[in-house]
This record gives sequence, structure tokens and C-alpha cells, in this order.
Amino acid sequence: MKPKVYVTRKIPERGLKMLRDFAEVKVWDGELPPPRDVLLKEVEQVDGLVSLLTEKIDEELFSVAKNLKVVSNYAVGFDNIDLKAATNRGIYITNTPGVLTETTADLAFALLMAVARRIVEADKFVKEGKWKTWGPELLLGQDIYGSTLGLIGLGRIGLAMARRGKGFDMNVCYYDVFRREELEAEYGIKYMEMEQLLRSSDFVSIHVPLTEDTRHLINEKTLSMMKKNAILINTARGPIVDEKALYDALKNGKIAGAGLDVTDPEPIKMDNPLLKLNNVVILPHIASASVATRTKMAEMVAENMIAGLKGEVPPNLVNKEVIKD
Ligand code: DGY
Repeated sequence: MKPKVYVTRKIPERGLKMLRDFAEVKVWDGELPPPRDVLLKEVEQVDGLVSLLTEKIDEELFSVAKNLKVVSNYAVGFDNIDLKAATNRGIYITNTPGVLTETTADLAFALLMAVARRIVEADKFVKEGKWKTWGPELLLGQDIYGSTLGLIGLGRIGLAMARRGKGFDMNVCYYDVFRREELEAEYGIKYMEMEQLLRSSDFVSIHVPLTEDTRHLINEKTLSMMKKNAILINTARGPIVDEKALYDALKNGKIAGAGLDVTDPEPIKMDNPLLKLNNVVILPHIASASVATRTKMAEMVAENMIAGLKGEVPPNLVNKEVIKD
């Protein structure tokens, strides 16, 4: 008998095929996530669950999924999963690190450039027929070269962003709970305490996971430390930024702009005042959304699932404590 796997959304075919060759697979084919009651029903009999960051994977779900052995999350982030509850039940949790690093950093840098050079506003200006002539002061933005890029978090994606910054002749500094001295020399980047980084950077880009320590890390106080010309970029997780404080800071000219690929909640509510500001570019959480990367993520999700269901340690196990000696 083949093991049973439930997949909460249609992921790229290559990953689905790998899963189908090994297991009996059922895929939720809606555009929106499966409703909670459907998900709870579907997981009752399964051995494996492929989840997305839109699904809350918690004790309630584990308590009904009696046969569940592996949750393979189609994302590098896993803040949607209660790891402790999974570990207590001996369930493997896996993610997709590495394959989306460069794609995500590309988008973070694209956002940085879009806000600095007012690309979205300029495009709208042209399409609305407002372009009458070349103007000396038309849509002036900020220089990227020679400016200071401050990275909050120097994990894989933070470092990929640092390399992009160096390629654009930026001064790059970072704050991280783990200082990475070997990388400072190798990449020509500087460590700063958080406050110093916020006070010195023209661009602040967030590359930390969402945890209880990073929730609302960017708030009224930390925003007030930023330069008036500063631009905030968030491609990590929406709740890291207090959006109300961000709106006030943008509205009152305390910082100059923001580029957000993630919001709190997602999707953003249409009455969120951030949507009315021209100095904010907001994207629908697409940082890893290239064909190649999403395909690789699907393969990785399948590899993790298959290894776990075979009783092997999955290559990208997140809750390593689950392995018994
Ligand atoms: C992740 O992987 O955590 C992203 O947010 C989606 O690719």
C-alpha cells in the first residue's frame, strides 16, 4: 500500500509527479487555501502533508492527523507551523532553504530600486497621459550607488542582498544576533548594532525570520531612529513591521519610502492606508516567484516528503530534535 499525501495547493508539476510516483496523492485545486474544516478532514488519514505558508499547522491539526509523519512546507519560512507540537508528536517538519535565496534577493533589490527611483509612480504617470515634456525636476528619486544599505539579518538571503549592494557600489552594513566576522572581510561589509545601523542607513532591508523576538521589530521607536531619506524594504514576513507605525512615519515624512513584498495580514486589507501612499510599493508576496525557483521548491518538497516517509531523515529537516538516538 502506498502512503497517502495531501497537498494543499497545486504546486509545479515536477514535484507532484515525484510525489505521485511514490504515494497516493490528493491535491486541493482551489486558488484559495482549503477551508480549515476541509483541511482538518483531509489530514485525518494521511501520512504526509505538503503545506504552504497560508496553512496553520498546529496542535489542533496534529491531534486529528493520527498517521501524520511528515509536513513538507513549500517555503523556507516555517512560522506557520508549531514546531514544538510537531516534535512532541515525532512529526518531521521540513522546508526549502537555499533554492530561493538569489530569486528572493533579486526581488528585494528590485523593490529597493523601484522605491528609490520611483519606478511604479513613473510608469503610472506615463500610462495616465501625464508626461508632457522632459522636466529637470520630474520624478526625482534617490541615488543607490554610494549610499548605505543596512541589512537586518545576515542569513543566506541577507548575504545575497549584500552582494547585490556591493555590486551597486553601496556601503553595506548589517546587524545580526550572530556576528559573521569571516564574511565581513570577505564581502567588505560592516557589523553595526541595530540602532547604529538604523541611524546610518539610506536603505534598511529586513532578512530575519518571524519569531516572538522579531515581531514588530520595526516599530515607532525603531522607525524614529531612521534617516528622513531612508527607505525600508521588507521581503521577510509582514508582522516584523508595525504597519500602523510605518504609515505614520511615511505620512509624517519621518522616513522616505517603503517597499513591501509581505504585509500583515496577507492579503493586505483594501482599507489599509498604506495603499494610498505613492512612496510605498506593495507586492503580493512574490519574492521567490520565478518559474525555475518555484519548480526547484516543488522538487525539494517532494524529496523531503519521500525521504521522511521512507523513514529516512529528510534532507531539510527543521525540527532536528525529533530524531531519536
Ligand atoms: C518563503 O519561502 O518563506 C517565502 O516567503 C515564500 O517563498
